[in-house]
Amino acid sequence: MSGKRVLLIVGGGIAAYKALELTRLLRKAGIAVSPVLTAAGAQFVTPLSLSALAEDQTRTDLFSLDDEAEMGHIELSRAADLVVVAPATADLMAKAAHGLADDLASTTLLATDKPVLMAPAMNVRMWLHPATQRSLRLLQGDGVTIVGPDEGPMACGEFGPGRLAEPEQIFEAVAAALAGQGRPLAGRHVLVTAGPTLEPLDPVRVLTNRSSGKQGYAIAAALAELGARVTLVTGPTALATPAGVDRHNVETAVQMLSACQAALPADAAVCVAAVSDWRPDTVFGVKLKKGPEGPPSVRLVENPDILATLSARGLTRPRLVVGFAAETSDLEGNAKAKLARKGCDWIIANDVSESEVMGGDNNEVLVIEAGGVERWPRAAKAEVARRLAARVASALA
Ligand code: CTP
Repeated sequence: MSGKRVLLIVGGGIAAYKALELTRLLRKAGIAVSPVLTAAGAQFVTPLSLSALAEDQTRTDLFSLDDEAEMGHIELSRAADLVVVAPATADLMAKAAHGLADDLASTTLLATDKPVLMAPAMNVRMWLHPATQRSLRLLQGDGVTIVGPDEGPMACGEFGPGRLAEPEQIFEAVAAALAGQGRPLAGRHVLVTAGPTLEPLDPVRVLTNRSSGKQGYAIAAALAELGARVTLVTGPTALATPAGVDRHNVETAVQMLSACQAALPADAAVCVAAVSDWRPDTVFGVKLKKGPEGPPSVRLVENPDILATLSARGLTRPRLVVGFAAETSDLEGNAKAKLARKGCDWIIANDVSESEVMGGDNNEVLVIEAGGVERWPRAAKAEVARRLAARVASALA
């Protein structure tokens, strides 16, 4: 957690004192705290106690020259990894839900592009009021995480939901939000195939293709960076295993299929491998020799289609199956036909007639799904991989 920064907005209410304990817990975990105190909050805790515990200046005023000169409200919210509102009053919730901005706290909430976590605290009637429940639904719809409120006896003498969650509980929610940041695929298993396959003819000769594995390995790395457990089933390449990726080496298409099936279940499968469509129907145990009868003729048989097999309806079908299409003509038409034929959810189509693509470092792709076609600009394979991993993450979210 250390190195992370929380912007803590303390609203008005008897529970504001618990924000001091929350600040202490955050600091103890090495999390930096930038406090913002509303005018109502300042009726319950002083800027001095908050600053002392946060070891940072408490900001209170939207129009303070000092504060603005040091760090404007926009920068204040951008410098944080997470914005926490504790206690979040009915007023703060309503303002944030409707985009009102008339003080530093509400302006910061409107200006932020960071995730927001709110711990509401208010009188039970205020909490249950349809207006507050409406704000709650709007905020949740905007992606705000809500912690609490707890149920119990309240300072106003009533009983019911409205008590601020305990500081430990808010701290745990903050820690979970910070830990999950940038890892939207945490807990997901993604299967990736990459590289060429090698189909032996005899002990020294193979049928293969020019795939370097670069795009597939970049995709495996990008998925792992987003927190996925990645199984990479790969044909022979000269590449290092990306960090955090579980690599299974295979040579033939038949071996690749059985390694993929053994890796299931998976939430998603991304088939990038350039699988040889055919293999010699006879694999000779000894090296074929030149002889007076001339060159041998080799009969080929079709390999199993790994992408189509993984895409077939069934209990083990990953929720999302992505294929690639390597084409040298009519990119879009051929790729659309491939989407239908293979039964996968997306096809990433690239034109491999360009000498740069196979073995190169850049790629220019079309993303084809039943709903339409997206054209991505030419970019480094690592960049295409990051964009695809983010698209996989949002499809699985
Ligand atoms: N693929 C596969 N198993 C095969 C052949 C292809 O899993 N035996 C996958 C590739 O990994 C890729 C997609 O299918 O995701 C399309 O591969 P491509 O070589 O472009 O298509 P083909 O199936 O060979 O079709 P065509 O011969 O019409 O080009």
